[in-house]
Amino acid sequence: MQILRNEAYFLAYAAVTKYAAQRCIWIFYKIAMLKIKNINTYYGQAQALKNVSLHLTEGEVVTLIGANGAGKTTLLNSLSGVVPPRSGEILFNNVPINNLAVHQIVRMGISQVPEGRQVFKPISVEDNLELGAYLHHRMLGGGDEVKRNKEMVYDLFPILRERRKQLAGTLSGGEQQMLAIGRAFMARPKLMLLDEPSMGLAPMVAQEIFRVIENLSRENKTTVLLVEQNARAALKMANRGYVLENGHLILEGTAAELLQNKDVQRAYLGKDKKEIWER
Ligand SMILES: Nc1ncnc2c1ncn2[C@@H]1O[C@H](COP(=O)(O)OP(=O)(O)O)[C@@H](O)[C@H]1O
Ligand SMILES: [Mg+2]
Repeated sequence: MQILRNEAYFLAYAAVTKYAAQRCIWIFYKIAMLKIKNINTYYGQAQALKNVSLHLTEGEVVTLIGANGAGKTTLLNSLSGVVPPRSGEILFNNVPINNLAVHQIVRMGISQVPEGRQVFKPISVEDNLELGAYLHHRMLGGGDEVKRNKEMVYDLFPILRERRKQLAGTLSGGEQQMLAIGRAFMARPKLMLLDEPSMGLAPMVAQEIFRVIENLSRENKTTVLLVEQNARAALKMANRGYVLENGHLILEGTAAELLQNKDVQRAYLGKDKKEIWER
């Protein structure tokens, strides 16, 4: 009897331990959607990123704040493979990606919307979206997925559906930004990298862009790394943020913590911007 009881205890113990181990693995995977470990990125001799480490959890919106020239675009370009880091490691869902080519990184589920609304101006809205789908399309070998994704983009941005036959170059600035985001979305990324999406847009239009980014995150479950000139608007939307200064990450915290931080307030949340962006 005693032996049976011991056996039962042992089995119960083993089951609990196994459950705990599975839980740990699950949590680890959840935490580790993106892990950047001590990356150093250069342009020739000039070092633009110095020992930068950060992480993103699935489903988060994380914002990267910093002055002009701090290295924000370089960080996004390091991630997307445009300017690979010279040392350090980038893990995406636990797979090292720092030695992969740009198109391979896109296929793994990371899409970048570069600074400055880069759409193909002489072709239509619809053709721009189909170009965005090209890599994904080839991978799936079918047009149905492309069609479905295009509909999703049109649902996200109804104005693009209305203008689908129009040449991209004739769209307004805000519409071009929507198209740039929509085009990146055609690859159905798990992680979207957005570089200053509100730059040069009127405040009302910028707010519309922010609403769309919130939608991408909330309804389409896309994880977002957002670089923004407007730290206040970005922090209002984000779960967490990092502050980059001269290629160093100098601060990280929840969005609420950063909004309260005196240094952040002084350097990045100037009063002048407040009225325009307050929602
Ligand atoms: N293509 C490039 N060639 C040489 N230096 C560059 C290049 N792009 C950026 N830099 C330099 O790298 C630093 C970081 O730039 P960047 O990442 O564009 O900053 P941010 O996006 O924060 O404004 C700056 O000193 C900038 O001058
Ligand atoms: Mg930049």
